[in-house]
Amino acid sequence: MALWALLVFAVLLVGCGDGPITLPPGEGVDPATLDLEDDALAAQSLLAYARLNDYANSWTSLGPEGGYAGHPNHASRLVTYLDPVAAEWLEGASKDGAGDPAAIPEGALILQEGYSSEGEFQDIWMMLHREGYDLTGREWFWANLSPEGKVRASGKPEQCWFCHFSMRSNEMVFSFPVPGVVPLRGEGEGESEGTEAAVEISQADRRVAEELWRSLEEADYREEWTTGLKDPGYAAVRDARSVHSESLALYLNDAAADCLEATPETMPDGAVLLLEHLDEQGNAQALDVMWKRKGYDPENGDWFWAEFAVDGRLEKAGAGAGCRDCHQAALTNDYLFRYPVAIVHL
Ligand code: HEC
Ligand code: HEC
Repeated sequence: MALWALLVFAVLLVGCGDGPITLPPGEGVDPATLDLEDDALAAQSLLAYARLNDYANSWTSLGPEGGYAGHPNHASRLVTYLDPVAAEWLEGASKDGAGDPAAIPEGALILQEGYSSEGEFQDIWMMLHREGYDLTGREWFWANLSPEGKVRASGKPEQCWFCHFSMRSNEMVFSFPVPGVVPLRGEGEGESEGTEAAVEISQADRRVAEELWRSLEEADYREEWTTGLKDPGYAAVRDARSVHSESLALYLNDAAADCLEATPETMPDGAVLLLEHLDEQGNAQALDVMWKRKGYDPENGDWFWAEFAVDGRLEKAGAGAGCRDCHQAALTNDYLFRYPVAIVHL
């Protein structure tokens, strides 16, 4: 081998940092009964098990193919997988009705892959449900590993739960409403309720909605507002129950955007979060809006909820508008799913 090749080889080896890691055997690992005492070993065993089962091809993935734009504390692009136990639980509960939030099955495992904006695979995060494991952490075992299998955090790390604790009303989960946390509407009922809600908009709420629409028209939000932490056209995380379309653009006015860094528990008065539903060409189809109005509905976080057609026609509006019953899952995070605003400051 030429000297330069040896040099390159040596540099590569050093560049690898910790060098290759041999994972424990994945064979025989059962997430429902795996010993969690040695938490780093458990984290690696879970990864070995997931890989042995070819999770990327055989597990259920949430959201669209190729992943979706993630919160910066995780990664630019996320792909989230549910092991068969978690997938069956989520699907069953979506189909059959309410479910029981206290009954997340043993061995339910959520695995998330994180990629940089350049597409480099950087992280693996896992949440494994284990009854009695950690009551403060809502009985989840947490793990964060490098793709090589180096354990970055495992067990009951504060660094995971202090942020996920914002979603304690939803069993610590951000990406989807946990079955049973909010009552599910029966088959067909959803639609009739939707039209009812549209009929039932009060005059007062109509006026509020008109005020909101005018302010949106004036604001030129596509140019002026913060697109949140996500790119317009970011793909939504969806399970069977999510109502928002697959491709979304999220816009935040200044009051809402300023608050993302500060995480002051709740969004401030005047905050507006606007979710555009996009079609395949990237054109807006409908607008879902949350507007924080101090004194509007103090019992329910003072949110005014509205859905507009693109021409401003009002579809839904009010203190619930068929929106709050689902966003209720995120009660402890000021009704927001994807932005931690109620982080516990340690
Ligand atoms: C600053 C907040 C924050 C911290 C810290 C954090 N997460 Fe998350 N996590 C989120 C958010 C927000 C999501 C929703 C998806 C996204 O990232 O856009 C999420 C999603 C997840 C998911 C997918 C299931 C779900 O809840 O949606 C897993 C698994 C996960 N995180 C594991 C971890 C682990 C393990 C750690 C600690 C090493 C950790 N997280 C630290 C905010 C955080
Ligand atoms: C069946 C559950 C459900 C219903 C009903 C629902 N939403 Fe959502 N909403 C979600 C989920 C899940 C997300 C997170 C989507 C994502 O980023 O992948 C979300 C996100 C949002 C966001 C972005 C802020 C956030 O929470 O992350 C806004 C704004 C919003 N919804 C408004 C509305 C409005 C207005 C309505 C009623 C017209 C409504 N939603 C009805 C589940 C629901």
